[in-house]
Amino acid sequence: MANIVYPKYQSDGSRLGNLLEWVDARFPATSLWKAHLSEYYAPKNFNFWYFFGSIAIVVLIIQFVTGIFLVMNYIPDGTLNASGIPVAFASVEYIVREVPGGWIIRNMHSTGASAFFIVIYLHMFRGMLYGSYRKPRELVWIFGVLIFLCLMAAAFMGYLLPWGQMSFWGAQVIINLFSAIPFVGEDLSLLIRGDYVISAATLNRFFSLHVCAVPLALLGLVVAHILALHEVGSNNPDGVEIKKHVNEKGIPLDGVPFHPQYTIGHDLPAAVIFLFFFSVVVFFWPEGGGYFQEYNNFLPADSMKTPPHIAPVWYFTPFYSMLRAMVWNFFWIDAKLWGVIAMGGGVVILAFLPWLDRSPAKSIRYRGPIFKTLLTIFVIGFLILGFLGTKVPGYYFFGYTPGEGFSPLKYLLSGDLIAQIFTVYYFLFFLTMPYWSKIDKCKPVPERVTFK
Ligand code: HEM
Repeated sequence: MANIVYPKYQSDGSRLGNLLEWVDARFPATSLWKAHLSEYYAPKNFNFWYFFGSIAIVVLIIQFVTGIFLVMNYIPDGTLNASGIPVAFASVEYIVREVPGGWIIRNMHSTGASAFFIVIYLHMFRGMLYGSYRKPRELVWIFGVLIFLCLMAAAFMGYLLPWGQMSFWGAQVIINLFSAIPFVGEDLSLLIRGDYVISAATLNRFFSLHVCAVPLALLGLVVAHILALHEVGSNNPDGVEIKKHVNEKGIPLDGVPFHPQYTIGHDLPAAVIFLFFFSVVVFFWPEGGGYFQEYNNFLPADSMKTPPHIAPVWYFTPFYSMLRAMVWNFFWIDAKLWGVIAMGGGVVILAFLPWLDRSPAKSIRYRGPIFKTLLTIFVIGFLILGFLGTKVPGYYFFGYTPGEGFSPLKYLLSGDLIAQIFTVYYFLFFLTMPYWSKIDKCKPVPERVTFK
């Protein structure tokens, strides 16, 4: 795509045509439009898994627009007002109760965070199903992992801003973890907090990063992600390269122009369906049973009252479970540091996927039984880790018994053991992939895409 020179727009003599010609002589409007939309040839066999990239863009826009309106009335101030309520907390209440339309803007933004992670987890899973991270799309995937890290940072910092109990105590738990890093840990957590405890200074720096630095980084990474994808071309559910079979003009035989075929015929209806479900949640179920907005966060932050159970929002809980699963000191490293390594490593290991997978087939359609079985267990394990991360440690399947002493039988039945098993499985899935992906019995991969 990159080497093609697109002819400049020629006016048809109308006023609009003249304006377009004037603009196009000074800005690459036609070439951008053609290279990325009307002459970007995408495989003709996309299925519903290919909705989520465009839906992620829709959610990104929702978060930007609602965020801009929230900032108009939000006050990042951790000090108490005349009624003894933290100013930041009171400003969010003011937005929801007094600002016209404030409630919907706030619900869209907070529920939008959960929607973003649902969409992104599905988008990433599609990559795993069809081997979209494999050569030549390694950079598309790596930009994706960086986007995922940025999203996590944005969500974590944004969560402190309402200055509720979970904002405060959640940040307390997570920032304290950084102090487990050898040599630099204490200084690093001091730098993140801007103080020795979570304080108004922390709120100010998180506000600045959440509304300015992280969105800029996110935007830059999304542009890089899509440019990288358009340089090499999209993968598809068959995992075959459409650029191998082109006509005399160099157009892939199995490709269709992204616009209008996919914009109008595929992604637009998907966005409408997504917006329907999103509206239902925003209007009727914004707190999502305590999963999208935690109940404890409707209470103002109080450094003197620790909530009995501190859990992050659902999208962090699989990784939070990995952190808690590490309870033993071994290899001269204490359990807390192992926890931090597991939690961080759980995300970072994704970046190595393009080099860990050695299978001759990319798509699950042609991959063997080992991949299908291990991937199914991986998904179930990830969901269970997510569920257990929302529970207190020592959650027993046969009744919840906080504070009871240790017994081997209870340990065997506890969620703790299951979290430990699936944490080990999570890492073994990736680390042993170079071996099992090579020996798995794949079906022959077709030369051209299959499309009915
Ligand atoms: C703000 C977040 C993101 C946005 C807006 C976004 C957007 C997109 C879009 C528009 C596409 C092309 C359409 C499609 O294939 O669905 C795409 C493809 C892709 N994305 Fe993302 N993405 C995001 C995050 C991620 C993350 C976190 C990952 C993985 C870690 C990822 C991995 C991929 C891959 C591998 C492809 C190529 C898929 C293929 O050709 O089969 N993306 N992305």
